[in-house]
Amino acid sequence: MDVFEAMSTCRAIRYLKSDPVDAALVEQVITAATWAPSPGNSQGRDFIVVTDATKKAKIGDAIDKAMRQRVASMERPDRTHRLMLDGTGHLVSTLKDCPVLIFICGKKVYPYEAPRESFVWSSIYPAAQNLIVAARSLGLGTVFTTFQGVAEPVIRETLSIPDDVLIGCMIPMGWSDAKFGQLKRVPYDKVVHHDGWQGDLRTYPPTYE
Ligand SMILES: Cc1cc2nc3c(=O)[nH]c(=O)nc-3n(C[C@H](O)[C@H](O)[C@H](O)COP(=O)(O)O)c2cc1C
Repeated sequence: MDVFEAMSTCRAIRYLKSDPVDAALVEQVITAATWAPSPGNSQGRDFIVVTDATKKAKIGDAIDKAMRQRVASMERPDRTHRLMLDGTGHLVSTLKDCPVLIFICGKKVYPYEAPRESFVWSSIYPAAQNLIVAARSLGLGTVFTTFQGVAEPVIRETLSIPDDVLIGCMIPMGWSDAKFGQLKRVPYDKVVHHDGWQGDLRTYPPTYE
């Protein structure tokens, strides 16, 4: 698949089939993630691939318990919010059935002489996006999530994550049970300033043409 097609259609997929994903495909998308840039090419990131049913159940149950009510009570002012939050509700209640949960973690290692936490996230996020686009190109659904924070002690214990390793995100991955489709984003002429800041070109929350 053309990279522009993969990037422009890799919707956050919160409906995943429980069918297994071949280990070779998991290796392929994580290899793509390792190609991502990082500050000074420090590559301070590691990937924890969770396929063990007991471990997924522990993590999924802990996140579901912490999130279910919270997500159910969040306001859904428009269709976009409704779809996103309904999808999140579905995802948290089915996390343990997702075939693969990928945690991208990192250590404070850069700059080597005076490491800063911000560089941990700078190393993790480009890798996550490479992984997401690679997965899309193979027909696999993913969603970038950060709600693992609500169950961090359980996750750390279940996966034996040392205290000096930070968890950047959790990416559930599997065969999509929803449609991939064109992303809705603020268009080029509302986000690009030529030769200097030209004033606010748009308002928040974003609107689409
Ligand atoms: C830093 C970051 C944190 C996110 N956290 C979550 C999350 O915790 N749960 C979730 O369901 N989606 C999460 N998302 C996914 C966004 O909601 C999604 O990318 C956005 O709504 C656009 O969706 P679309 O690509 O399908 O248009 C996160 C995305 C980013 C970049």
